[in-house]
Amino acid sequence: MNNGRPIQVIAVTGGKGGVGKTNISVNMSLALAKLGKRVVLLDADLGLANVDLLLGLKAEKNIADVLSGNCDLKDILLETTGGIKVIPASSGTQSLASMGPQEHAGLINAFSDLEDELDVLVIDTAAGISDTVVSFVRAAQEILLVVCDEPSSITDAYALVKILNRDYGVSKFRVVANMTRTDKEGLNLFNKLANVTGRFLDVTLQYAGEVPFDETIRKAVQKQQAAIEAYPSSKSSIAYRNLAKTVSEWPVLKQPRGHLEFFVERLVLQ
Ligand SMILES: Nc1ncnc2c1ncn2[C@@H]1O[C@H](COP(=O)(O)OP(=O)(O)O)[C@@H](O)[C@H]1O
Ligand SMILES: [Mg+2]
Repeated sequence: MNNGRPIQVIAVTGGKGGVGKTNISVNMSLALAKLGKRVVLLDADLGLANVDLLLGLKAEKNIADVLSGNCDLKDILLETTGGIKVIPASSGTQSLASMGPQEHAGLINAFSDLEDELDVLVIDTAAGISDTVVSFVRAAQEILLVVCDEPSSITDAYALVKILNRDYGVSKFRVVANMTRTDKEGLNLFNKLANVTGRFLDVTLQYAGEVPFDETIRKAVQKQQAAIEAYPSSKSSIAYRNLAKTVSEWPVLKQPRGHLEFFVERLVLQ
């Protein structure tokens, strides 16, 4: 068990698919590792371009094997060349909401094994506002909303913030603007979202920065490499590193919310 060192749990979400959550999760995680953090990336997005694919990894086992008692969480962790560990997604995993007490206990045990081995847990969530997305996001300490300058991205991010706030009392959100095309676009986008949430909800939004639109991201995805590894000096790679630096400066909560154990308990018992 962890001897008092808090762990930062960051859920990367945004409501809408295709806004860049997975690319941000992967590249930010790698950039955090370069800052000396021990990072585990939990792939909770079962979409097509998932974390394994982006990093050219091949998962043989996944979280479903852990829950069914076939192996430990450590056995399914994939090590990447960039120094992060990935917990692969499982398309067969039932939603957290439908798990029984035994599986909940299994999940808690699985994660407690991992506690001494990480500083940051990044969760790449699926699109939408499913029960599982809400469970992961509510249990995390930091919620990083990815938005881009499209009406549906703002609407979906707002809908997610509204549900989390009204139904679950979540009040603090970080926002990163993705695919920006001008210097001011990121902050403008943040202000748009902050204005509408400020008017109707009791939440605090904090701006975490922006990632510019950059063709090298698509090229890196095609090569099954992370952008910051394939094109380390591209403008998006610089932005991912800036984002990681910002994230590494967020205060890590002291216990009890800062502990992985409590993250997992919140995840399954909420
Ligand atoms: N900053 C960016 N500039 C250009 N293309 C991007 C950027 N971020 C993501 N993309 C592209 O957008 C698509 C969706 O990204 P992805 O990270 O899979 O989104 P999500 O996980 O939100 O569905 C991918 O094709 C990716 O290459
Ligand atoms: Mg994704």
